[in-house]
Amino acid sequence: MRLVLLGPPGAGKGTQAKKTVDALRLTHVSTGDMFRRTVADGGEQGKRIQAIIGSGRLVPDEETAAVVDSFLTKQSLWDSFLLDGFPRTVPQADALDRMLEKRGKRLDAVVAIDLSEQKVLARLGGRKSCPSCGNVYHDVSAPPRHTGLCDRDGVALVTREDDQPEKILERLRVYESQTRPLLDYYTRSGVLRRIDGDADSDQVTARILALFQK
Ligand code: AP5
Ligand code: MG
Repeated sequence: MRLVLLGPPGAGKGTQAKKTVDALRLTHVSTGDMFRRTVADGGEQGKRIQAIIGSGRLVPDEETAAVVDSFLTKQSLWDSFLLDGFPRTVPQADALDRMLEKRGKRLDAVVAIDLSEQKVLARLGGRKSCPSCGNVYHDVSAPPRHTGLCDRDGVALVTREDDQPEKILERLRVYESQTRPLLDYYTRSGVLRRIDGDADSDQVTARILALFQK
């Protein structure tokens, strides 16, 4: 299956991707995580991407599409991926369609996780993540066993640079203007499935998995 998870910042795309990929037998591909790894590696490209992510804006479409194309090809994932955070503009969706067409394939489903702006602010305001393994926590809904430390490796948790209040607002603006149009785009192509993301994490997982039960 070839699947896309769509939704505003903080809707729970990363959380749900991690919780559903095993059951759906897919590989989780997050462009946000890829870009954060490029930033961590340093170098000129890392610095440039850090400035873009830090401002809440988007990495250019062509560059993003090229990164995804190359990753899916290198990892032989064209038949079984769950894309988290890509596509997030109409040009990116067109690029993905072309990449798939070239290989005689198409998307099976796009799952949009709906969440109000107010809930997004609460989710992102309390998010912490592990800079070493990438595990994600929340001060209220998913706290670590020991305050401030990763359950897996004990490393001190950090707040993402783009989770500062003014950056969150910019990301929401970018979502509204550039990503929300994809809801119409995928409605037209007949693959869009919407779910309400305002429930505890296990319930949201059950809602997603229910879409694919035969
Ligand atoms: P990216 O990393 O994709 O960020 P995003 O889309 O803003 O989404 P988030 O990762 O912030 O939220 P999420 O939906 O994954 O929520 P999460 O599961 O963590 O992208 C970052 C940046 O990279 C972009 O701004 C851009 O610059 C660049 N980029 C990436 N892709 C790009 C592209 N295609 N084109 C151009 N640029 C690109 O959950 C949030 C919090 O809520 C967590 O603390 C979690 O524990 C908690 N939580 C989750 N679910 C629940 C629940 N059900 N109940 C209570 N709490 C919950
Ligand atoms: Mg994420």
